[in-house]
Amino acid sequence: MADYILAIDQGTTSTRAIIFDKHGTIVSTGQLEHEQIFPKAGWVEHDPMEIWHNTREVIGQALGKADLTRHDIAAVGITNQRETAVVWDRTTGEPVYNAIVWQDTRTQPIVDRLADEGGVERFARENLDVPVGVDRFKHIVGLPLATYFSGTKIVWILENVEGAREKAEAGDLIFGTTDCWVLWNLTGGVDGGVHATDVTNASRTLFMDLETLSWRDDILEEFGVPRSMMPEIKSSSEVYGTVESSSLLREVPVAGILGDQQAATFGQAAFDSGESKNTYGTGNFLIFNTDTEIVHSKNGLLTTLGYKLGDQPAHYALEGSIAVTGSLIQWLRDNLGLISSAPEIEELAKSVEDNGGAYFVPAFSGLFAPYWRPDARGALVGLTRYVNKGHIARAALEATAFQTREVLDAVNADSGVELTELKVDGGMIANNTLMQFQADILGVPVVRPVVAETTALGAAYAAGLAVGFWSSLDDLRANWQEDRRWEPSMDADERERQLRLWKKAVTKTLDWVD
Ligand code: G3P
Repeated sequence: MADYILAIDQGTTSTRAIIFDKHGTIVSTGQLEHEQIFPKAGWVEHDPMEIWHNTREVIGQALGKADLTRHDIAAVGITNQRETAVVWDRTTGEPVYNAIVWQDTRTQPIVDRLADEGGVERFARENLDVPVGVDRFKHIVGLPLATYFSGTKIVWILENVEGAREKAEAGDLIFGTTDCWVLWNLTGGVDGGVHATDVTNASRTLFMDLETLSWRDDILEEFGVPRSMMPEIKSSSEVYGTVESSSLLREVPVAGILGDQQAATFGQAAFDSGESKNTYGTGNFLIFNTDTEIVHSKNGLLTTLGYKLGDQPAHYALEGSIAVTGSLIQWLRDNLGLISSAPEIEELAKSVEDNGGAYFVPAFSGLFAPYWRPDARGALVGLTRYVNKGHIARAALEATAFQTREVLDAVNADSGVELTELKVDGGMIANNTLMQFQADILGVPVVRPVVAETTALGAAYAAGLAVGFWSSLDDLRANWQEDRRWEPSMDADERERQLRLWKKAVTKTLDWVD
């Protein structure tokens, strides 16, 4: 058996290939950023072809740096930015439009239409005892109707790209999130590429029944999306196919797929009920494992798939999704020029003692969990002549911690159990100032593992389990090691005061869209 697993992490800002050994240690990495396309306010797109070319390129980088060949790689795992929708022509391999990214809010009118009174009236007429409005399908799919999820993005493409509907109805167009796009191309594209996705990605479309793990024909019909566009739903850990012959990885099995937040949970070895993790990326995503139980949130969380290994039962999770955390730091860099590189934010924040009274609510894509308010827009409040750029940097970092606290409160309320510590991962956990403030504002310790690249590691684990590279979850648990822990040091009154002011700042962002 070859000695390594290669994970492809197709993220929001970049694509990476990371090679792991049996201990879950990183052997080498390839990485390329792709363009963020903002055609209008609220629109966010990626070029799927650029993503695919970068994927091929980073595989070469990772293999080259470690002087490895395909014979050293036992399997490939894929993890990905979730919800981002690609629609392409199965006969030419060409996307019919750019990928519409999870942060994109253009589909709000489609959300409103699907949630609107027509639906309410019809259900009332049919006297069905089911929820209405944005929660119409929540009891089936675990999600409210929102621009975040892939379903309305497919509808937008079918309604706005010339000829798309006709082609889709003729069976020529297919849809996939970026895991599916990468898998299809990796396994041959127009020459027999595998059109499949895993349960975790499927659970972010608005179309998958959480109980049966299959597409709901009635919901697809309601959205006007032909069933023939949808990929086959597979488990997160099985051999989907092998890599096509022109690739450096030819004939290597592709054997694991997990959406990036579920992959990070898996990489943190949070396999059991009550275990959780919080990832600090472009956005923040806290996932709480509910084992084989489907728990419907009463506090603004999503019900989602955690993972499914081959034929074994599916594991479910509650999720608190926050749209903007790390991307606020990028915005300060790219749109305001406040810093010239993201890590500089910590130095700037440390130039002051506190936030100087400033609170920054980055509701750039509305507010996700626990509010789900598409009408919210960002606000920087509490400004006086005293406030300087250090305070603004600090307020931007603190926004991540406050939003996480609100999500953690929702998890505690839904689960009835108080989390006693928070496992963290993702790019922003390198920032000590943020991690200390996070522990302070949560009032529980924050814990970082030795391998912080848990997203790619989770995909590698899923692939490695499928081909016998690792034999059990116990092997993976044994790989997890604590690196650092931040203990809370803020007194309780101060914590409550800060939270009160944060919540007041949030109220200033609501009802903004005219
Ligand atoms: O749901 C969106 C999420 O999967 C994106 O994650 O790490 O690419 O920002 P990331």
